[in-house]
Amino acid sequence: MRILLLGTGGREHALGRALVADGSELHVAPGNPGLTRLGTLHDVDITDGPAVVALARDIDAELVVVGPEAPLVAGVADELRRAGYDVFGPSAQAAALEGSKAFAKDIMAAAGVPTAGHRVCTTADEAAAALDCFGAPHVVKDDGLAAGKGVVVTDDRDAALAHAASSGTVVIEEYLDGPEVSLFAICDGTTARPLLPAQDFKRVGDGDLGPNTGGMGAYCPLPWAPQGLVDEIMRDVVQPTVDEMARRGTPFVGLLYAGLALTRRGLRVVEFNVRFGDPETQAVLSLLETPLAPVLRAAARGELDALPELTWRDGAAVVVVEAAQGYPGTPKKGGPISLPEDTDDAYVLHAGTALTDGHLVAAGGRVLGIVGRGADLEAARATAYQHLERVVFPDGFHRNDIGIPH
Ligand code: AMP
Ligand code: GLY
Repeated sequence: MRILLLGTGGREHALGRALVADGSELHVAPGNPGLTRLGTLHDVDITDGPAVVALARDIDAELVVVGPEAPLVAGVADELRRAGYDVFGPSAQAAALEGSKAFAKDIMAAAGVPTAGHRVCTTADEAAAALDCFGAPHVVKDDGLAAGKGVVVTDDRDAALAHAASSGTVVIEEYLDGPEVSLFAICDGTTARPLLPAQDFKRVGDGDLGPNTGGMGAYCPLPWAPQGLVDEIMRDVVQPTVDEMARRGTPFVGLLYAGLALTRRGLRVVEFNVRFGDPETQAVLSLLETPLAPVLRAAARGELDALPELTWRDGAAVVVVEAAQGYPGTPKKGGPISLPEDTDDAYVLHAGTALTDGHLVAAGGRVLGIVGRGADLEAARATAYQHLERVVFPDGFHRNDIGIPH
């Protein structure tokens, strides 16, 4: 199959590996140096619908896979579908599940999906009243897309008010206490299939200290998860959401990412995303045995129920993100990188890298993802950190506690 993959990060490198597993031909826009080994890169602005449609035509794409949320929210999947392409990625209307926190709350209420109590606030007075209603710790979220950085969780009421004041429309909600789980489901508008559950590490520092980031590492599956957790999430969260989107005439075709908290009172949705999560995808796809391309095309065509169940390797996987000094603020760019050879169970995925005069350098906040696989979580974690020791990147830093359940 000829596939066009849109995006540039570690998630896209992981997707690229899984998409070529059956010998599919890969084209990527814009891609990164890691993806050059897997396919052909095209320098196209992926939020420019007509430019993406023209590229799909040039390469005669049989499937387009959209990595990040920005082109989805901008309606690029809609333009591709209108031009007749099979697309894995939701319409702009369905992508509002991620693009607007207020919309996501509305869908959850209509579908009976458990989530944190919330209020949508547009004025300082409304925000103050909502903060006092829910009490500390305070949770204030920008309504729109914010690359994982639009959420403030704080005991400081003034800081919470300041975030609300700086953000226009915000969602203020009840604090959810308990371990977090990411579950991804491949959806075709009607049918949904879960991937392995994962946990990511959002804060920049060891012990979950410091500001939120896009994600500093992840592991899967979850050895501590209660029996039946995935079935429960599919029954109580994913399927009702897919059904409600279909009922509204805006079916969800693509990857529904449920971020959940397992609270003492049961599971609650923390957020929805409408694309593969980064970096959980790097861990999850490293255990997928089934070739990904036919699965995503079946989803794009509404034919998921005809496919057999996905199959997975035994064991566990861990991905540790190597970020550039300064991240999640302004990362230091241009730092030289030298990488070890991949092995069977340990490899490096590129995220924010570039080639300058043939030399690999840092070009973003999250620069690399080091994946380790093993018979269990402890072994996978050891493999990932051992491989990371052989990465030379003096301007980089990472967390040391990725893969320790939290
Ligand atoms: P989000 O962008 O909604 O995923 O939020 C980013 C992170 O903020 C989440 O992964 C949680 O760690 C934290 N967070 C978001 N909402 C809540 C909440 N209601 N209670 C506690 N933590 C939250
Ligand atoms: N892992 C967090 C995200 O992709 O938003």
